[in-house]
Formats: sequence, structure tokens, C-alpha cells
Amino acid sequence: MISLELSETRVEVARENITEAGLGEKVEVRAGDARALLAEMVEEEIEPFDLTFIDADKEGYPEYLEWSLRLSRPGSLILADNAIRGGSVIEPEDESARATHEFNESLAKDPRLSALILPLIRGRVDGIAIARVLVD
Ligand SMILES: C[S@@+](CC[C@H](N)C(=O)[O-])C[C@H]1O[C@@H](n2cnc3c(N)ncnc32)[C@H](O)[C@@H]1O
Repeated sequence: MISLELSETRVEVARENITEAGLGEKVEVRAGDARALLAEMVEEEIEPFDLTFIDADKEGYPEYLEWSLRLSRPGSLILADNAIRGGSVIEPEDESARATHEFNESLAKDPRLSALILPLIRGRVDGIAIARVLVD
């Protein structure tokens, strides 16, 4: 498992907790902006992931989806949190909601994916997007 994290403080906290949990051999935390780190992983020709979980800055979701597809294989799953956000993503009024709207539209239309959004009640309605990659 590889986790990407921008905040140096959170990188340290995550590494400490992962080591304490005895998972240091299995989980790697890479520090930096996910955009650059994802590009590096494609460059490295890293083995495709079985599952990618997107849960960072919402503005980046459309880009993260494209990188995730490049790092997947047929049958891989791509999950993304906060796909509904109280409905604000349906008629977006800010960049964060607009990017999630674009992300959700891609999930619906992209022939490389079969996807759904599972609504969840977290005080307000939110949702987790679950997409299965169909092609290489
Ligand atoms: C909801 S938290 C998830 C934290 C942790 N990965 C987890 O699963 O518990 C979102 C994290 O995304 C990080 N983040 C925000 N923008 C990022 C970016 N451009 N690249 C990498 N990480 C980013 C934030 O610092 C924050 O720690």
C-alpha cells in the first residue's frame, strides 16, 4: 500500500502510527503533492494497484482520476470520498464543488469505467464513489 500526503506533519504522524501498528513493511507513505507523486509512479512503471482511494483536495479529483486510471488494470477499483457533499456538487458554486461535479460526470460517462455513488448520511448526505476499471 502506498499513501500520498502533502503535509509533512501528517506524513510523520502516519509513518509513526503505521510503524506502531507493525505495518511498516507493507505501507509506504510518500511525501509531496499527489500530482507529482502520481506522475512519478507512472514513470516508475509501478505495478497496477488493485484499489485506489482518492480523498485529498477536491480540486484535484479530475486529475487524480486520470492518474489513477493510468495506475490501474482491468478489475481495479477506484474509490473517492465526498462525492455528494450535501448536494453542493450538483449545481456547483465554487471550484471545489465544480471539480467534484466534473469528476462525477467522468465516472458516469467514461467508457473505461463502470461506476456508482453510494450515498451516506454523515449529518448531511455525502457519498463515496466506487468505480471498476474495465479496460487497460
Ligand atoms: C481526508 S485526509 C486523508 C488522510 C489520510 N490519507 C487518511 O486516509 O486517513 C486528506 C489528506 O489529503 C492531504 N492532501 C490535500 N491535498 C493534497 C495534495 N495535493 N497531495 C497530497 N495530499 C494532499 C491533506 O493534507 C490531508 O491529510
